[in-house]
Parts: sequence; structure tokens; C-alpha cells
Amino acid sequence: MFDAIAPRYDLVNRIMTFRLDVRWRRKAIRSLKLTPGSLILDLASGTGDMCIDLRKAGYQALSMDLSIGMLIADRSNAPRTQTDILKLPCADNSVDGVTCGFALRNLLDLNIFFAELSRVTKKGGRIALLDVGIPTNPFIKWGNSIYFGKVVPRIGGLFSNRAAYNYLPKSVAYLPAPSKMVEMLSQNGFVEVEHHQLSGGLTQMLLATKA
Ligand SMILES: C[S@@+](CC[C@H](N)C(=O)[O-])C[C@H]1O[C@@H](n2cnc3c(N)ncnc32)[C@H](O)[C@@H]1O
Repeated sequence: MFDAIAPRYDLVNRIMTFRLDVRWRRKAIRSLKLTPGSLILDLASGTGDMCIDLRKAGYQALSMDLSIGMLIADRSNAPRTQTDILKLPCADNSVDGVTCGFALRNLLDLNIFFAELSRVTKKGGRIALLDVGIPTNPFIKWGNSIYFGKVVPRIGGLFSNRAAYNYLPKSVAYLPAPSKMVEMLSQNGFVEVEHHQLSGGLTQMLLATKA
């Protein structure tokens, strides 16, 4: 599915989020608060948006994704690897930080993923994870469900692949509750675990420090 949507992935993202996706990624990168030159793994890197901004922020970035279509469309020039991010081809304690944008809901087992993040991140290293959210305000929640349920599949169908953009909004149902994800990160060796709602909860961000 991701191979199929890769060529127009950026265009559809910008249209369907009114460019808010760019802001959300930059906020996640600012929240890392690591020293310039730190090595950051961007997991499920897609077309490389996060890597581009990581490099602009002065970090060294590595891009990893399972979809060869996405990796081909990656414009970041960061070194890239095709891999399943549930089994990272990285040594223990080898990176200063990890980012992951909008992929948590696609992973088969978040506990395995968080354990892998903990394994590869150095002590004191930081992680910043983004995914779509479910707004708590009933009015925003209602508008968001109509927008994602009815409008996004049409935008996707018009510019890319309707079936994929039917599935993607629904896949938010696979995400555990925020409090559960915070607990899972704490149980996997992270401290200072924070959950933030961005843009009224349209997107959620998890931040944590490796103990
Ligand atoms: C919605 S896209 C997000 C792309 C990018 N991070 C962004 O911020 O736009 C989800 C990405 O997760 C990747 N993905 C899903 N499951 C994966 C896995 N098990 N291992 C590696 N990448 C995976 C897909 O190939 C796709 O590129």
C-alpha cells in the first residue's frame, strides 16, 4: 500500500492537513533538544520529510522504512535502509535519538517497537514519536471524524489511491490509549515520558528520555 501511494504521498499530506504536518514534524524535532551533530534514526521515514528537517536542525539523520517505494521517493539524501523497524539493524546503545512520524498505528506490536527503541538509544537519548490523534473536545472530534471519514478518502482518490486513504484514517483504531502508550514506554526503560496533543488533538506526540 505504501509503495502505491509513495509518488504523491507528500502532495496528499500537504493538502489534507493544510500543511500542518510540516509544523508537527518540526515541533517533534525541536522537542528532542539534543546537541547539534547528534545521530538520529528516523523510523518509518516515508519520503524523508523528517530527515530533511532533522538535517536542517543540525542533526545527522538515518532513514529507515520497509517500503521500497517510499525509500525511492525519499528526497532527504540521508543514508537510507530498507528494514522492518520492529527489528532494527542497529547495535545496542548506538544512537542519540529516534523520531517516528505517523507510523505507530501500522506496527503489529508497539511493545516490541518500544523495546527496540530502548535497545538502540543511548542513555540520556531522546525519542519523539508522532501519530494521528483522537481529539477530546467533542466538537473537534466530530468535525475530525467527518473530515477523515469522508473528505480525506476523496482527496486521496483524486490525487492518489482511494483504498489506501480509506484505510489510513481508520487505522487510528489500532493505537492504544495515550495513557497506555506512556505506560508502555515507561516499562521499556524510558523516563520523563510525556504525551502531548497537537492542534487540538488532531495529532499526538510522545516524548521520552532513555533512562
Ligand atoms: C504514514 S507513513 C509516514 C511516513 C513519514 N514518517 C511521515 O512522517 O510522513 C507510514 C510509513 O511507515 C512505514 N512502515 C509501516 N510499517 C513499517 C515497518 N514495520 N517497518 C518499517 N516501516 C514501516 C510505511 O512504509 C510508511 O512509509
